[in-house]
Amino acid sequence: MFYLNIRYHYKHDITPIGLHNFFTQIFKFRTSIFQGLNIYKPEIILMTGIKIDGKEIAQTVKDRVKKAVEELKKQGINPCLATILVGDNQASATYVKNKHKACEEVGIITKDYKLSSGITQFELNKIIVELNNDKSIHGILVQLPLPNQLDEFVTTSRISPLKDVDGLTPHNVGLLAMKKAVLVACTPLGVMEMFDYHNIELEGKNIVLINRSNLIGKPLYHLLLARNATVITCHSKTKNIKELCQLADIVITAVGDRSKFTLTPDMIKKDAIVIDVAISKYKEKLVGDIDYDQIIQKASYATPVPGGVGPMTVAMLLKNTITAASLS
Ligand code: GUN
Repeated sequence: MFYLNIRYHYKHDITPIGLHNFFTQIFKFRTSIFQGLNIYKPEIILMTGIKIDGKEIAQTVKDRVKKAVEELKKQGINPCLATILVGDNQASATYVKNKHKACEEVGIITKDYKLSSGITQFELNKIIVELNNDKSIHGILVQLPLPNQLDEFVTTSRISPLKDVDGLTPHNVGLLAMKKAVLVACTPLGVMEMFDYHNIELEGKNIVLINRSNLIGKPLYHLLLARNATVITCHSKTKNIKELCQLADIVITAVGDRSKFTLTPDMIKKDAIVIDVAISKYKEKLVGDIDYDQIIQKASYATPVPGGVGPMTVAMLLKNTITAASLS
């Protein structure tokens, strides 16, 4: 005789993704032997929320992009991304290398401009204008941050809005604010893709954003607002971050300095959704703003670092390059 008692603490619809996560969650499998009888009584208790797996979701985006690249090639368009890396910032060099590798995987051609750290604004602008005028190039990305003598606004504003795969030009930022966006910053787009992949409803949700940068906080604010969420943007001068987070259905954090800030479980409400956009080195490890293993005990969904938002940024760059190529 076999007695099966499966208990599960799971409050979400069992969609195919939910089902997958259901079986991949940590569970307790308890056996007990009834008095005198060899009867197993397994008990499955789900202990944690659901991991939002950036690698898995990014792969689905890459698969779609790969097909789009094939279609564009049939029409005689060979999608091409030009990257500009100024100076010898090691982290930036690694990011750019990863972007090239991902392009290669999906059939996007890349042009790699590695410029000396001493380049002047005038010289950099001239290169950007040449790339704007080059019909074989569809996307232009200037890796940030730039050395001190170069101005990020002056530099990114030079990029043609039609080739602006980072969504940083005033034109594209304006379109986003008017809900008419074509090219949007990659990391915010990646976060939206994660919500959609898991069918997470945003309308009416209270969302706290801990970042106000041009690349993350501001574009995310507009994307979330356009989906009828109520969005609060926090920053270094916000006085009551903990209290605001405790009220949030979703917390999106992108501080990136663990010596100054960690989003701890006591700062979120039960079953909140936590998206960790940060990545930095802390105590010789790559970390985000959260301790994933702790947060996932309380959150309904959370992203790990690495393997969370990072792969999504790269995947959405590929998507934006295809969008730019189809505009050409
Ligand atoms: N530096 C860090 N993230 C990014 C990004 O998404 N785009 C660019 N251009 N630079 C970055």
